[in-house]
Amino acid sequence: MNVEELSNKLEALASLAVAALAEAPRREDAIQIKNSYLGRKGQVQDLMKVLRDLAHEDRRLAGQASNACKQAIEGAFEARMRAIAEQELERKMREEAVDITLPARPLQASMGHPLRQIEQELIAIFEEMGFEVAEGPEIESDYFNFEALNFPPDHPARDMQDTFMLDDERLLRTHTSPVQVRTMQSYELPIRVISPGRVYRCDSDITHSPVFHQVEGLLVDEHVTFGDLKGTLQHFAERCFGEGTPIRLRPSFFPFTEPSAEVDVGCIFCRGEGCRVCSHSGWIEILGSGMIDPNVLSASGIDPQRYSGFAFGLGVERVAMLKLGVNDIRLFYENDLRFLEQF
Ligand code: DAH
Repeated sequence: MNVEELSNKLEALASLAVAALAEAPRREDAIQIKNSYLGRKGQVQDLMKVLRDLAHEDRRLAGQASNACKQAIEGAFEARMRAIAEQELERKMREEAVDITLPARPLQASMGHPLRQIEQELIAIFEEMGFEVAEGPEIESDYFNFEALNFPPDHPARDMQDTFMLDDERLLRTHTSPVQVRTMQSYELPIRVISPGRVYRCDSDITHSPVFHQVEGLLVDEHVTFGDLKGTLQHFAERCFGEGTPIRLRPSFFPFTEPSAEVDVGCIFCRGEGCRVCSHSGWIEILGSGMIDPNVLSASGIDPQRYSGFAFGLGVERVAMLKLGVNDIRLFYENDLRFLEQF
């Protein structure tokens, strides 16, 4: 074999190797192909055995040809390894990609308990009118819950049947009215507060729960009249139940107010026509109210000759049942998500 033939064979080997490498599917295939040509017992080495039969001046040319062949194969090998690495990276990116065009799973946004929502609504209406929130303890003394509110010692509301007594003196407050006394004792006049909170009574059926919520209102100033009370409640009724909602005051009795009135709103379901909810009267009772009894003012150190005021007490559950169309008070306390999620 002369040097020309050798060069041709090396070139042919190189193109075979380059073609094979270009098709090598995996790294280990590429390595194996390269070794089969360039390894110690590879085809190129094998071919170069003829070197010793060549004339001295041809050996340099043969060396150049063999180098070119090796470089071509090395180059093809490196290129193939890079291409495989790139393909692998691409496949990984594809497999691990997150499809951000998929619709998201719906989030369960919590709106707060329906009773809390209604309570917040009631507070907002009175805050708009300039009332501020005042709170009192749920464990009360007989003094704040009854005595200072002018309940006579033998008043039936003090009966064990209604009141959860904790001991001789302490009880679970049966209404939010004791906060009236607490604020009158500690606030500067004039006073304009509302006081939301939990109250307790030993009573349970579809419209009564042993724990329920009230919002108490109290306003004390000079020259406060029954007309101020009526105007405040009229405005409240319209903000709460819709413009044009009428109210009706019926004479009533509470130990801590004189005169006292129970307040009805025009039935929000039949708009006064008469339906089952309002027992065909066209009216629904929503709160108790009245002018603060002078005895209550005096008991809190306020001069009834100079000051007067009004108070009212509103049941949150009652308003919630009307506004949300719920007909069993106990649903509010069962925490059944199927119920709560409707609001
Ligand atoms: N505290 C009364 C109750 O729980 C409701 C009430 C009536 C509150 C008249 C008042 C009021 O402030 O003036 O039944």
